[in-house]
This record gives sequence, C-alpha cells and structure tokens, in this order.
Amino acid sequence: MKEVVGGPPPSQGFRDFAHAVKEAIDRELPRWLAPHVAKAKELGGTAFAVADAIRTFTTRGGKRIRPVLMAAACEAYGGPRAFDILPALLSVELLQGYLLIHDDWMDEDEVRRGGPTVHVALRAQFGSARAGEIGAVLAGDLAMGYSLTALLETRTTPDRLAEATRQLARMQVEVVAGQVLDVYHDGNVETVHDLKTTSYTVRGPLLLGASLAGASASQKAELEAFAQPLGLAFQLRDDLLGTFGDPQKTGKSAAGDLQQGKRTALVHELLAADRTGEDRALVERVLGVKDAPAADVARALERLATARPRVEARLSALLDESHAHLGRMDLRAEARNILAGAISALGERER
Ligand code: IPE
Ligand code: IPE
Ligand code: MG
Ligand code: MG
Repeated sequence: MKEVVGGPPPSQGFRDFAHAVKEAIDRELPRWLAPHVAKAKELGGTAFAVADAIRTFTTRGGKRIRPVLMAAACEAYGGPRAFDILPALLSVELLQGYLLIHDDWMDEDEVRRGGPTVHVALRAQFGSARAGEIGAVLAGDLAMGYSLTALLETRTTPDRLAEATRQLARMQVEVVAGQVLDVYHDGNVETVHDLKTTSYTVRGPLLLGASLAGASASQKAELEAFAQPLGLAFQLRDDLLGTFGDPQKTGKSAAGDLQQGKRTALVHELLAADRTGEDRALVERVLGVKDAPAADVARALERLATARPRVEARLSALLDESHAHLGRMDLRAEARNILAGAISALGERER
C-alpha cells in the first residue's frame, strides 16, 4: 500500500494527480467492498446478488472525477493527502454508484460504463423485469448505506468528520431535488443542472475535501463560487457528448439523449432560438419518442447541430468564469495549478 502515498505532489500537474487518485480508487474500492459483500453472502443468495451487483458496477470503470476533486481540495487547503482520506474518497464513488443505479432504472438505460446497468443485470439474475427493478432500487439504497459507512471510517477529528458528513448529506439532498425537477421537467434549466450535477460532482466533492482540511468559511465560499460555473460546464459537456459523442468512449447507450427524452442544453438552445415554431414541432415529434421516424430523428440531429456552437460558447464562458474565480483564490501555486487542470479536464473531456 505504501506506493500510493496519496498521489504525486500537485506540481506534477492535474493529469498525474488525477491518475494517481483514480488508481487508488480502482484498487481500494474492491478491497473495501469485499467484506461487505461477504457479509451479505452470509444472509443468502439474494442479498449476495444485490451486494455483488454494486461491486460489479462500481468497480467497472468510471472516471473517478469526484474523488479526484475531493483530494485536490483537501490538499489545496493544507489537509491530508489522498492516501490518508481513502474511505472518504470511496464514499463519493459509492454515492455516485447509488445515484447511477437509480438513474439508469428511471431513464430506462441498459448500458453504463460499457456494460449492463444494474436493473438489467439483476433482471437476468432474478428472472423478471420487476424483480430486477426492485433489486436495483435496493442496490442503490445499499450503495448509499455503504457510502456513509465509508465516510465514517475516515480518520480525522470529530469536528471535521461531522462537517464532512453534513456535506455528504447536502450532496444527497441537492442531487435528489435535481433529479425530481429533471424527471418531471420542472424548474429552470440552470437550476436543475446545478442541483442534479454540480451539487454532487463538483461543489460537494470540493467542499467535502476542504472540510477534511479544516478550511475556513471564507475559503469554502470561494470554492463554492469556483465550483458553480465548473459544474454547469461539466453538464454542458455531458449534453454535447450525449448527442455528438462516441458511445465507445462514453460507455453509454448509442440511442442518444434525444430519443431518451432528455431536455438537454442543446434542446433548450434550439428552442430558445426557434422563431417559426418548426423546431418546436420537430422536437415534440422525436423527443422521448422511441419509434420516431428515422427521417425526423436525422432532421432533429441536424437542427441540434445548429445549436451546438452556442452551447460550446456558453461552456467556454463558464470555464472562463471558473478561471476568474480561481485567480481570486488565496492558494499555493501547486494547488492553483491542480484546480486549473481540473477546469480543462472537466470542460474538455471526451468521455
Ligand atoms: C455521470 O457522471 C452523471 C452526470 C452527472 C452527468 P460521470 O460522467 O462522472 O460518470 P462516471 O462516474 O465517470 O461513470
Ligand atoms: C445522471 O444524470 C445521474 C445523476 C445526475 C444523478 P443524467 O440522467 O442526466 O445523465 P446520464 O446520461 O444518465 O449519465
Ligand atoms: Mg440518466
Ligand atoms: Mg437522468
């Protein structure tokens, strides 16, 4: 275990830092889960199937961007290095597991991280669609239980642990609110994105990391300001990848956001610029319509492509905003360098 030593110093740049944290998560997550899955096995085959589905899913890839951001913030504010807060880093990946397992069931997605989603895998194991879905709901609940269990194993002071736990709870409360607004097509698009993505992808992990470093209220406030445009940018990139990305790289279904009925930033941009009502009528014919005529789908994709440069421009402005906040933050050069690297990595990713 010695070779992990929390990843290289920030001066080696974001890429190396992120790589070292990702490696640590990829190695430690199965190790952490093993006794929990074994305990489930003692309860019987069904409990084992559910726990094992979490293990299979959470250890099958994932960019691990949340623990990377958490470790970066913790080090940036002079806290312990990644190696010393591993259970806390695992907790955000387990939270992500819980959210994706439920999300894929809600969105009826069959593929995630290049393999079957959990309700699909459990459908095969439990012998019916309904039993598989129930298994996925329970697997998500269990993964959240594991997330909290892991966080509480972090070696830190009681004050910092209490603050970190508050941050994890805030992440869950916000992301669930975001999911509610998203599924029922309610609320303004940036609020929804802030709640459903920024909350637990950027802001929460950064604040959790800063909490474990004992950062002050003003340091957390500046981190929050930095996180806000970055989280939105992450979501815009996700929307662009969901329509124009390569499914081989994203590991998600090739069906695309359009036929899954997602009101992405592209759809919003297209409709905002629609003067004749033609685009709105077209979108209504294909959005969420699984058997929409191929010609309509092709036309809608062409029309969405016209909105693409505007979404890209907005994304780039958001990244500039994060850079501007970063410039005002009181940080050591290495920490600034790492967070600047995070801006590029999140905004420019291809998967
Ligand atoms: C997917 O998150 C869900 C969104 C918030 C867009 P990621 O893109 O971080 O997914 P993984 O963890 O790398 O699979
Ligand atoms: C992902 O949201 C899950 C959460 C935000 C919790 P989406 O449904 O928008 O994204 P993908 O395309 O499934 O990753
Ligand atoms: Mg989804
Ligand atoms: Mg969703």
